[in-house]
Amino acid sequence: MSVSFTTDYSKQRAAIEESLERFTQPESGCPARLAEAIRYSTLTPGKRMRPLLVLLACEAVGGDWEAALPAACAVEFIHVYSLIHDDLPAMDNDELRRGKPTCHRQFDEATAILAGDSLQMLAFEVLCENLPEIRAFRCCRLLAKYAGRSHLVGGQADDLAAEGRFGESSDHRSADFLQQIHLRKTGGLIVASLQLGGVMGGASESEIETLGDYGRSIGLAFQIVDDCLDIESTPEKMGKMTRKDENHGKLTYPNLLGLAESKQLADELIEDAIRSVSVFKSQGQSLVELAKFVAERRS
Ligand code: IPE
Ligand code: IPE
Ligand code: MG
Ligand code: MG
Ligand code: MG
Repeated sequence: MSVSFTTDYSKQRAAIEESLERFTQPESGCPARLAEAIRYSTLTPGKRMRPLLVLLACEAVGGDWEAALPAACAVEFIHVYSLIHDDLPAMDNDELRRGKPTCHRQFDEATAILAGDSLQMLAFEVLCENLPEIRAFRCCRLLAKYAGRSHLVGGQADDLAAEGRFGESSDHRSADFLQQIHLRKTGGLIVASLQLGGVMGGASESEIETLGDYGRSIGLAFQIVDDCLDIESTPEKMGKMTRKDENHGKLTYPNLLGLAESKQLADELIEDAIRSVSVFKSQGQSLVELAKFVAERRS
């Protein structure tokens, strides 16, 4: 997998990797195989877009990105858990993730479920153990909401419920229903990443709202692009199998609107996102770049 941004975020990236490695150190009481599965799925390189968003949002509102590292890791832990569970046989039944066998293929199904469970708890533990109380409370509240039943989990439930039902009723082919799935299953955690970064940077309420608007636009665009790459890219580039949405009868943007219109919609959402963060002036430039990356990414 290749990842490229115009600006070199290597310092932030290295700090994210170091923190993920530190927070997932085995501890007494955690069975060795479970610890190994947690570290296998977390430390295999991914794009780390969500933790980077936490750091960039913190900086955009005038904060110091280093202080936001625990929040950045908490979001990545939730993301990794969601990938492990998304790949399970009961969900998307995938065998390849980040260029390696999925967690349940490498270990076993029960271990993969438990690694995901552990990562959810670890996210909240890291927030509570490493942030000042009021910030920990605000970050936990946001993360619990956006990772929960009405956002990430609810979106995943509707994604599965919609499988194979495209065209069955107007509900199952409506652009509105699909938008709600994508905004919740993927957009929610991206909004949470930005707002956690905002909290850590001492953002005002209106800045938190602006970060939310930006996050909804790039979050929806990110999943639209993911749906397009599933059709157009390859397992070598993506580190995961492609053409799987069609095989599962998933409701996706290219399925509903076609590839060209889907890409145009993603581009429009990126323009909206860039407009939203113009209030941050030059401090928001990295968020502008990140938004462009979402539309242009090839992996
Ligand atoms: C994959 O997310 C899941 C989706 C929401 C499409 P990423 O494409 O950010 O995966 P990693 O973290 O780089 O592996
Ligand atoms: C998953 O969407 C979004 C999550 C919340 C994990 P996909 O099912 O399209 O993600 P990939 O393509 O398996 O990475
Ligand atoms: Mg899925
Ligand atoms: Mg999947
Ligand atoms: Mg996908």
